[in-house]
Amino acid sequence: MHPDIQQKLREEMLGLPIEQPTMEDLNSLAYLDRVAREILRIHSVVAATVRVASHEDVVPLDTPFTDKYGKVHDGIHVKKGDAIVIPVKLVNTLESIWGPDAREFNPDRWLDLPKATQAIPGVWGNQLSFIGGPRSCIGFRFAIVEMKALLFSLIRSFEFELAVSPDQVIQRASIVTRPALRSEPEKGFQLPMRIRRAKGVRKSGGGY
Ligand code: HEM
Repeated sequence: MHPDIQQKLREEMLGLPIEQPTMEDLNSLAYLDRVAREILRIHSVVAATVRVASHEDVVPLDTPFTDKYGKVHDGIHVKKGDAIVIPVKLVNTLESIWGPDAREFNPDRWLDLPKATQAIPGVWGNQLSFIGGPRSCIGFRFAIVEMKALLFSLIRSFEFELAVSPDQVIQRASIVTRPALRSEPEKGFQLPMRIRRAKGVRKSGGGY
């Protein structure tokens, strides 16, 4: 959906003339890092999760709210056993945190993040994608470097373009979120794409 961003990423990758990058090589690519952060923010794989309160408590609020009886609250009382939804994707894309372009795909936002993002209690990257605390994702470093390695292999060699109009693509969540088509929900998950060999790439494979 963003050929300019894809091309900028390709050019950065082609500047690293090796076929089998190490983790350090992949992490040295600054634009790839921003793209990975932005993908994980805006397409939060786990869109929400749940925790159960182990004891009674009060969750303090940044902004007080008024209930339906007109009473103002500056905290939420939680009882033992209450289920609490953690809205990962909402926090990752909230305008009051990320600014008016919160729902746009813009890797360069990571060059100058709004201060409010520092308060997000995520284990990684100013976002909730791997959540936080003692039961946060233990695989996040592996997941990020795996994603970077796949992108490094694919984007150097191929150009990707959506084969349907963007408004046809919807996100469907089971435990993780995957793409489907608005017009063909019965066909399950899919993302039709046109894929071409990237210009200036040798036929024998590899990216250089
Ligand atoms: C982009 C990829 C990934 C994302 C977005 C992701 C996200 C998450 C999230 C949100 C949780 C917390 C779920 C919950 O408790 O409600 C979690 C837990 C976990 N993840 Fe990941 N994960 C990813 C990849 C991986 C990989 C590659 C591994 C292993 C190599 C892994 C291992 C785990 C484990 C073991 C837990 C449970 C931790 C615990 O309960 O103490 N994850 N992950």
